[in-house]
Amino acid sequence: MSLPELTIARQAAQAGGEIIARHFRQAVQVGGKQTYNLVTTADLESEAAIVATIRAAFPDDAILGEEGTTASLDAPRLWIVDPLDGTNNFAHGLEQFAVSIGFYERGEPKVGVVHQPTRDSWHWAVAGEGAFRDDVRLRVSTAERLDQSLIGCGFFYDRGAMMEATLRSIGDLFRSNIHGIRRFGAASLDLCLVAAGALDGFFEYELAPWDFAAGRLIVTEAGGRLSDCRGESLPLERTSILATNGRVHEAALPWSSGIYPVDGLKAAAGATAFECGFAR
Ligand code: IPD
Ligand code: CA
Ligand code: CA
Repeated sequence: MSLPELTIARQAAQAGGEIIARHFRQAVQVGGKQTYNLVTTADLESEAAIVATIRAAFPDDAILGEEGTTASLDAPRLWIVDPLDGTNNFAHGLEQFAVSIGFYERGEPKVGVVHQPTRDSWHWAVAGEGAFRDDVRLRVSTAERLDQSLIGCGFFYDRGAMMEATLRSIGDLFRSNIHGIRRFGAASLDLCLVAAGALDGFFEYELAPWDFAAGRLIVTEAGGRLSDCRGESLPLERTSILATNGRVHEAALPWSSGIYPVDGLKAAAGATAFECGFAR
């Protein structure tokens, strides 16, 4: 596959990945909105290297990056970059982290690359051409029912209503006799695990565009399905997300469909999940 955007996405991920691998277990924390929402030198330096690589190849393209590179989501050619997804894992010496780069044309995902530098592992997809891990084609699982499923989830940083709602959903899922719940801490890689058939589904009540920009294409190209947690089509902007093998999607929706719009959630910060209307 010789799409120039794929080549550049891989080069940019390689450049960012080398930086974060070098900082692994040595990075300095440089900030964070709360004590549990961290930013390290590796996040910042990785984004700078990724942006420089993309700009050198495509100077007119828009780039949106988590660590301060701004662009409109309406840009006709748009790169969406998470220079280090899984910073919390990274900062604690856990290897579940990645560089995530998605390329979009007129709002449609065209290329997705998710790279784990310390494992030299690559997940990637090109629209219409399939999804791959290290050049092996990926396929979602064949589980038909929730009681045959392993479900992944994520906790958005909010510790109020959204966290309570996630915990409720986990309880509900266990009561439907799923095989188990996993929370690995890097959404881009969670989506790759759905694409690879290791997870039958994954949900989180809020993700930013850079968390899922690459992984969404990897899931759909592996035969999976994505929606927001109410079953609506996934937007480009910040959203709740449900990704599955397709077969268990409808069954999983009721467990995640009570989500309020993000603005409503923020307004309700501090209220319990029940008061927010998450209860089913
Ligand atoms: C986070 C991770 C995590 C998810 C959070 C994300 P970051 O990204 O993907 O798994 O639960 O919602 O913000 O901050 O490590 O890039
Ligand atoms: Ca992220
Ligand atoms: Ca990040």
